[in-house]
Amino acid sequence: MRPHVEVISTKDYIWHKAELPGATGEAREQRLSYDEEDGSCSLRIQFDTDWTRPQGYHEADTEWFVREGQITIGDQVIGRGGYLQAPKGALTPAISFTKGTVALHFREYGHNGFTPSDTAHPDATHDITIHDTEAMEYQPVVVDGPAAGLYIKLLHRDPDTGFYTRLILGDDGWPEHRVAHHPCFEEAYSLHGDLNYNFGYFGPDDYFFRPALIKHGHFTLSGGCEWLLRSDGELINWYTTEEWIKWGGKAENYGKEHDAHWEATTQFLSGEERAHPSYNHAFPSVSGHEQNPIPSTMPIRSKTIGAWNGDGM
Ligand SMILES: [Fe+2]
Repeated sequence: MRPHVEVISTKDYIWHKAELPGATGEAREQRLSYDEEDGSCSLRIQFDTDWTRPQGYHEADTEWFVREGQITIGDQVIGRGGYLQAPKGALTPAISFTKGTVALHFREYGHNGFTPSDTAHPDATHDITIHDTEAMEYQPVVVDGPAAGLYIKLLHRDPDTGFYTRLILGDDGWPEHRVAHHPCFEEAYSLHGDLNYNFGYFGPDDYFFRPALIKHGHFTLSGGCEWLLRSDGELINWYTTEEWIKWGGKAENYGKEHDAHWEATTQFLSGEERAHPSYNHAFPSVSGHEQNPIPSTMPIRSKTIGAWNGDGM
């Protein structure tokens, strides 16, 4: 269970002491998305000192992506864009980050457990994956649905579940007027560029986690957008046009429908009395439609992003 987060700015989120057992060094974490049932999470980590963790294996499928700074995996040193995927139980070389590094950290289907070891867990089935993503070439996305103008660097795909992580580049002006939904979750961290869509503005170091089946879209891109995307299965595009939603009910004692009743009830009061907050409280229709209830499915949004107007539903 992960809540629908769309959109949050990392500028707004507080820092926690990083929960990365078995390591030497100081680090903080911003919790972008957390599954309190199984420990799956997406974190933004800031390393305040040089930081190291010895060879061993993880309790969860684990990923690292360097936003700024440097990672060393065994004897391989990679700067910005360095990527590591370590499946649950796989033997992972010692890793280290230099002071000042900012990295994205993902754990799936498990908590933060880490066991120092010279061998993999006996149940491990897959090996780790390492990429210097800055040195990889973008390839055109060729799938049913989206218009030309999207490019992919595939970082990792689980051969059993189809779970995959990729970098996506979108051409300046890439169009999509439809809203879409998918059978899998879709999660993204913006690396650069400006995207405007039904949930508002999505820019550098903004983040969303969108559970399966939630409609989203009519995108406009500017500045050549680049995002890190993750999905827990094959991302199939199902499109909706001319979208509508039926939601609501009869307002018994609030809202614009009740203004006539409020006028009648308070007609004996002076204008000053009618404007007094106590009457506003007793007769909330004075506030008009602002007192209407809202659906309980609103996504989590941080203060910089602001309110969502329900567009796209
Ligand atoms: Fe999507």
